[in-house]
Amino acid sequence: MSATVIVGAQWGDEGKGKIVDLLARDSDLVCRYNGGPNAGHTLVVDGETYKLKHIPSGILQGKECVIGAGCVVNPEVLISELDDLGSRGVATDLVRLSGNAHLIMPWHLAIDQASERRLGKLAIGTTKRGIGPCYADKAMRLGIRVQDILDPKILRQKIEVALAEKNLWLERVYGEQPISLEGLVEQHEAFAERLRPLIVDASLVIDTALRDGKRVLFDGAHGTLLDLDHGTYPFVTSSPTVAGGAAVGTGMGPTRIDSVIGVAKSYVTRVGQGPFPSEIEGPDQGRLRELGGEYGTVTGRERRCGWLDLVALRYAVRLNGIDRLALTKLDVLSHFAELPICVRYRTRGGGETRDFPAHQSDFHAAEPVYDVLDGWQEPLDECSSVAELPAAAQGYVEFVERELEVEVTLVGTGAERSSVLTRA
Ligand code: GDP
Ligand code: IMO
Ligand code: MG
Repeated sequence: MSATVIVGAQWGDEGKGKIVDLLARDSDLVCRYNGGPNAGHTLVVDGETYKLKHIPSGILQGKECVIGAGCVVNPEVLISELDDLGSRGVATDLVRLSGNAHLIMPWHLAIDQASERRLGKLAIGTTKRGIGPCYADKAMRLGIRVQDILDPKILRQKIEVALAEKNLWLERVYGEQPISLEGLVEQHEAFAERLRPLIVDASLVIDTALRDGKRVLFDGAHGTLLDLDHGTYPFVTSSPTVAGGAAVGTGMGPTRIDSVIGVAKSYVTRVGQGPFPSEIEGPDQGRLRELGGEYGTVTGRERRCGWLDLVALRYAVRLNGIDRLALTKLDVLSHFAELPICVRYRTRGGGETRDFPAHQSDFHAAEPVYDVLDGWQEPLDECSSVAELPAAAQGYVEFVERELEVEVTLVGTGAERSSVLTRA
């Protein structure tokens, strides 16, 4: 029996999907525990590119895939994802959906968009997929859950209650059109027909798998610094992204987790607003973006690019209890003669710290202190293990390990499934 959590250690898009896909080969069950279609995981297998939003990244390995209670699901997006995969010959009959997950409703999308518009300069830069409003309704106990679509009477009643309030907000606060009850009920009855066979007690499915000695992977969405409680609030998403969220978001006791693998890019990217101490100033930012293809999977937005930040990564090791790291996209750094790595922050008072500032104003004011490592300036395509990397690239990996006191067991050298090096 084993339960392994894969967690993004930065601000998302670390290449988690690719690592989960790789590790899913030797697993039986892959479970997503948080987030919704704000996540975008790109997998490249034999030259074919797949972009997953809701469905865990074990699907391409033919594994049972569970969408847990902690997720928020846009039924239209999920159905179109199932259809797309199906039309490409990927079997989706092993996709399971928790009846306790919440549904993203049209008013969540409308409010997310209108609220960002209203915030203007103070906007968070959300993906506008309705995530925050959906989790807010869940906390308000006004949400509509997957299991509600199983009973037409309950569905109609819940939509009616929610709409009575949401239409007021839409019309009076945001100046938007109200949403009609009848159209919505009809649409969700059609979704119900399609999703009914997928709905399970996800907690029980996972418990049974673990008791049967199966290997279970937990597929974290987003990244540690986007965590609602511990991230760079308010520039965060609305769910727990940290490894502990795997227990809460799937209905598994935390003592069942055996190991936590953090996924970090060899540099850092961030989409949306918010402080970012190691963001690159000058032309290297654009260069890194182009070399790394750093454009959002969900929104197509330019990702902001920075040098590797070990202060933030140390914080992620702490928050998640990371015991192994996967360092992705090392190949992208092959083009630079020198590689700055942020090892400390200079603080407002003029001191320096290796620990992530607990106070938002300290973090806003933090300035990066860099050690500059030599680049290797040669391609990594021919390497088949970490030991075969050029000396400077090995030095980069070892520097990270030394500073964080965590072993790097996987190194990404390309987007393809096969472009991952192990230590051996
Ligand atoms: P996720 O959300 O964490 O799964 O990451 P995304 O899929 O949003 O973004 C990571 C991007 O980098 C995707 O386009 C991947 O195909 C790509 N990628 C992942 N690992 C590597 C790697 O080691 N090298 C390169 N060059 N690309 C990678
Ligand atoms: P994956 O799983 C990168 C960011 C958004 C925004 C903030 C809040 O692909 O790594 P939201 O729509 O969640 O309310 O937006 O969080 N964000 C992500 N950034 N990768 C993601 O997911 C993200 N999910 C949310 O850009 O700054
Ligand atoms: Mg992504």
